[in-house]
Amino acid sequence: MALLGAVAAGCARPQPPELGSTQRSLRTIFEGAFLVGAALNAAQFSGLDPIGAAIVQAQFNSITPENVLKWGSVHPRPGTYDFAAADRYVAFGEQNRMFIVGHNLVWHNQTPRWVFEDSSGGGHPVSRDTLLARLRDHIHTVVGRYRGRIKGWDVVNEALNDDGTLRRTPWLTTLGEDYVATAFRFAHEADPDAELYYNDYSLENAPKRRGAVELVQRLQNEGIPIAAVGLQNHDRLDWPSPAQEDSTIDGFAALGVRVMITELDVDVLPRGADPFVDGLPDSLQQALARRYAELFGSYLRHRGTVTRVTFWGVTDRDSWLNNWPVRGRTNYPLLFDRDGRPKPAFAAVIGTAPAKQGRHD
Ligand code: GLA
Repeated sequence: MALLGAVAAGCARPQPPELGSTQRSLRTIFEGAFLVGAALNAAQFSGLDPIGAAIVQAQFNSITPENVLKWGSVHPRPGTYDFAAADRYVAFGEQNRMFIVGHNLVWHNQTPRWVFEDSSGGGHPVSRDTLLARLRDHIHTVVGRYRGRIKGWDVVNEALNDDGTLRRTPWLTTLGEDYVATAFRFAHEADPDAELYYNDYSLENAPKRRGAVELVQRLQNEGIPIAAVGLQNHDRLDWPSPAQEDSTIDGFAALGVRVMITELDVDVLPRGADPFVDGLPDSLQQALARRYAELFGSYLRHRGTVTRVTFWGVTDRDSWLNNWPVRGRTNYPLLFDRDGRPKPAFAAVIGTAPAKQGRHD
């Protein structure tokens, strides 16, 4: 959605959160239903944010990198790859025995301009053959480096417009419509065992969903191994409705692919305003809790199809929604507050968990 990704989270926090060993955890409570993950910033997996890291270790069994595997981070200049941060991310996931997601290989944002320009320096569009060669080199190098360690990749991110047509990005205009299939082919060559995903937002809206269904069918008809569709779920208190969420998940399940909720958060601020700098009113805190319970109700109705639910961030302090669509606001979209304490929404999500016999969480 936006260029803004990570928000620095490295500063010291006043108090440790109340997350003792008796606290019930998301990862244990949904065991057998789906993985529960979080998108991490560099501070959380590099030791600069021990409180954030402790929450991740206690609560989640899957991780996604907010930024460090995007093209601009990992491949900033022609022929120059920088894997320092991505290596730390993968090591953190392995140390904590987590399902490690790679995000993402092909996107129109956070991709340097040089990728789409020829080498004359004049800003001229690159030829199709050169762009194909760059794409192949990028995917083979990045996926190949983490072969067998990163278990699933968001291969193509946000290729669709709201009306369901393909977005006119340089990928489309230079390579043509089959760039999506080509990217999946390169990823499959680089790691035949990795799960490959198509990831997008607002697929709950019917026209865009139709476009995604057609895209998945085209890939399947060509024999491309697409394992799942990622529904970003950058949600609001009143969008999408449970009916929209249910029918979206059902629509992809009917194609035989799994569904992953990949970037979950709930924006509570009115468009353009910043009314809650001193704290979220209790009525909204409760509305957020009810909203999260409603969303998890939908995911649980589709257990078996929905195999992972990943939050886009760990605490409210880290969220990109403090800076989008307006910079410097105070938003409250996640389950943990700015000091890392669980919010009423956390208890509400835990409360939706299916009963398990002999559960010791
Ligand atoms: C999109 C991208 C993510 C992230 C978020 C907002 O949804 O897929 O990588 O950039 O926007 O930060």
